[in-house]
Amino acid sequence: MKILVTGGAGYIGSHTCVELLEKGYEVVVIDNFDNSSPKAISRVQQITGKKIDLYKGDLRNGKLLDKIFTEHKIDWVIHFAGLKAVGESCVKPIEYYDNNLYGTLVLTDKMRKYGCKKIVFSSSATVYGDPESLPLTEQSKTGGTTNPYGTSKYFQEIMLNDIYKSDNEWTVVLLRYFNPVGAHESGLIGEDPQGIPNNLTPYIAKVAIGALKEVGVFGNDYDTPDGTGVRDYIHVVDLAKGHVAAIDKISKSGVYTYNLGTGIGYSVLDVINAFSKACGKQIPYSIKPRRAGDIAACYADASKAKKEIGWEAKLGIDDMCASLWNWQSKNPKGYN
Ligand code: NAD
Ligand code: UFG
Repeated sequence: MKILVTGGAGYIGSHTCVELLEKGYEVVVIDNFDNSSPKAISRVQQITGKKIDLYKGDLRNGKLLDKIFTEHKIDWVIHFAGLKAVGESCVKPIEYYDNNLYGTLVLTDKMRKYGCKKIVFSSSATVYGDPESLPLTEQSKTGGTTNPYGTSKYFQEIMLNDIYKSDNEWTVVLLRYFNPVGAHESGLIGEDPQGIPNNLTPYIAKVAIGALKEVGVFGNDYDTPDGTGVRDYIHVVDLAKGHVAAIDKISKSGVYTYNLGTGIGYSVLDVINAFSKACGKQIPYSIKPRRAGDIAACYADASKAKKEIGWEAKLGIDDMCASLWNWQSKNPKGYN
């Protein structure tokens, strides 16, 4: 079976390529390397000893997609490609809607043209906005997103639902990721944010290697056990396996929505402490004001994925921090 992975050189895409290749799937990747390095693809091949068919280019380039679908008989598409920085999306909404929405339109149009109607889409817990109650189930209210990135994810879910409504031959799998962290156990692939990281764990890792001074904890006056924000961190390898489980198990057309999380919420201070343990030194931090747009707490009820596709997260916060430290310490400058 052959899978087209859009954005396969990225953080979650590269880990998913490893899991797919190790399960015997053939993998074709399209990536414009806007936020990644071709080295990630070489490293995936190094880890698995298997080859990826790589196409460098933009998803919005219909001619390139024609070439890919003509040269390969694609069974499923896993669609990761897109822009993902919440703050940047508020400054560049046109670029975000263009890349994320138009990219998905060009892709699905070409999938229809070539009769490939099975897609796994990278959605996000951000579609739930500010949760009314926790844990979040797939039935929890969506919408009420607070930034163009989140809104683009919400719109893409609606677009994919509408495509299925118009043609019931489609299989649409919407995977709502909680907070992916960590790296492959080899230390060969991992998250490689450019500039100062926006997200908590890559920031902590940069403090640990001495590239940044201390972690700013964005608020300690939330209604949470220690006052700092609580999130459902999920190991990126578990997350990658969720995609393989969906493709392995889903054989009937339809729209399937799953939360991919652990169901456990950890606070910012919990994560700083777990990382300090993993790297063997106390990570310095100081309390800062709340970050605009942040919510107090967010964690999943991930039981639907377990029941329907037999997937559950196996790795805990200590595994996440240890693997991130392994990647960061072996690659202090990421792929450079
Ligand atoms: P990433 O930036 O590491 O990976 C995205 C990849 O897509 C990159 O390799 C980038 O170069 C490529 N890309 C972007 N636009 C493209 C285009 N138009 N054509 C071709 N390639 C393009 O991000 P990631 O963390 O691996 O996220 C993957 C997906 O998961 C994204 O859709 C993201 O929104 C979603 N997601 C991520 C998180 C998270 O916290 N990392 C959480 C929820 C959802
Ligand atoms: N935080 C800090 N200091 C930092 C960075 C973050 O205290 O330097 C805190 C935040 O306030 C929050 C928690 O750490 O309480 C996690 O923040 P992240 O930025 O790591 O993650 P978010 O939950 O804000 O958002 C992430 C992705 C989104 C995605 C969402 C849910 O950035 O794209 O998870 O999947 F939608």
